[in-house]
Amino acid sequence: MSTKAEEFVSTTISISKPQPARVLVADDQADVREALRLLLKAEGYAIETVNTPGAALEAVQGGEFDLMLMDLNYQRDTTSGREGMDLLSKIQNADSRLPIVVMTAWGSVELAVEAMRRGATDFIQKPWDNPRLLSIIRNQIELYRTLRRAERLEAENSLLRAQNRPVFIAESKAMEPLLTLIGRIGPSDANVLITGEHGTGKEVVAQTLHALSPRSGRPMITVNTGGLPEGTFESELFGHVKGAFTDARVDRVGRFELADKGTLFLDEIANVPMKQQAKLLRVLETGEMERVGSSRTQKVDVRVLSATNADLKMECAEGRFRSDLLFRLNTVELRIPPLRERKEDIPLLVSHFLKQYAQRYRKSVKGLDSGAMQKMLDHLWPGNVRELDHSVERAVLISTSEQIQAGDLGLESERGSSAKIEEMSLEEVEYLLIKKALARHSGNISHAAEALGLSRSALYRRMQKYGL
Ligand SMILES: Nc1ncnc2c1ncn2[C@@H]1O[C@H](COP(=O)(O)OP(=O)(O)OP(=O)(O)O)[C@@H](O)[C@H]1O
Ligand SMILES: [Mg+2]
Repeated sequence: MSTKAEEFVSTTISISKPQPARVLVADDQADVREALRLLLKAEGYAIETVNTPGAALEAVQGGEFDLMLMDLNYQRDTTSGREGMDLLSKIQNADSRLPIVVMTAWGSVELAVEAMRRGATDFIQKPWDNPRLLSIIRNQIELYRTLRRAERLEAENSLLRAQNRPVFIAESKAMEPLLTLIGRIGPSDANVLITGEHGTGKEVVAQTLHALSPRSGRPMITVNTGGLPEGTFESELFGHVKGAFTDARVDRVGRFELADKGTLFLDEIANVPMKQQAKLLRVLETGEMERVGSSRTQKVDVRVLSATNADLKMECAEGRFRSDLLFRLNTVELRIPPLRERKEDIPLLVSHFLKQYAQRYRKSVKGLDSGAMQKMLDHLWPGNVRELDHSVERAVLISTSEQIQAGDLGLESERGSSAKIEEMSLEEVEYLLIKKALARHSGNISHAAEALGLSRSALYRRMQKYGL
């Protein structure tokens, strides 16, 4: 692996190993410390306990914690909480971002409010209710970790931007094999077929492969083979000479020539008509091509990346795709898992897009409330990362507070949408039906289009319209 590729794998994977969260408990009562230790240990947390303010401060200065649970009263029969408040500000000086949950005696709400004003993130009254305490701890840690990851990612991204590499977020277990493969084959000249449902990030992966390769100093030329108008395929790919056909008034350089010594990205490769597949095969096999209307053979040195959301093996079996061409294209095949199989990536993707759109639209949106995040996590994302991207954009635009609420997301509940069809607009019904068809066919556009009685491109247009 080249150093560039190694660095890619390590920086991208390093943020993906979840460690047990570390909780520091500070309380002078041994029975309280013991009860908390048992409770939190059973939940999988790593616990450290201390019994004096001095020891608490030392622990925070010496180690990394994800949360601190802190008693406000240290000398028996003192309830002023002064020692606790004092400790609170010292801890904040030592680690300004550490979430601190304070524990106060029952009935001393004023003290809790004062602590919150001074920067505690939440409070619990003793004797505490276990489920409530656990839920506070869980939420605070999750929030803290997401923020820290987002910060780290931001730092990494500015590094990557400087190196002209696209942002590729992947911290879930399901993405690890893919990242390793990208790191390994990125620098090579291997032709790579990238497969995955609509919106899973095939183009981002292609850009990443190119950026990791020695060809990165040259451009990556993209051809949307699905979007080429009839009859222009050859001229687009191979160019033409003046007079080759009626409209050919001047010479034209094709994409293969443009990509010489660089990378050519053939997007939506399954849509290449049979007749053109033979022409592609030839240039892939020999590196030779002619401009349309010319008899001069040219050599091109091109690395070909291609992408599809169709099942090319099945397309081959049914005679719509040449298997010899597939063999040339998929020296290596990279399959990107759909977002619903890597839900751990959702919080980080959300915070990435949130930041991007808050900046673009100059809105002071900072995060999602827990209901909205839960909705994000529960959603099946038939349109994968693109759908999530659009959903966050919409939410940022319509949100009226710093915290996005579930209602801002525009995601109707997945199970049995309760809205009555007769109360919906035609567009809403269309959106819902398309979404359901995509979910039913696991994001496969051809199959969903067939089920809806639409052409593939008609469905595609509607999906873009609805941000699916
Ligand atoms: N892992 C990721 N990290 C950050 N952004 C991502 C990631 N995956 C996808 N995106 C973003 O989501 C959007 C869709 O990604 P992309 O266009 O690469 O998907 P695709 O698989 O090529 O979709 P299609 O099948 O529709 O062509 C883009 O805006 C892309 O930047
Ligand atoms: Mg694409």
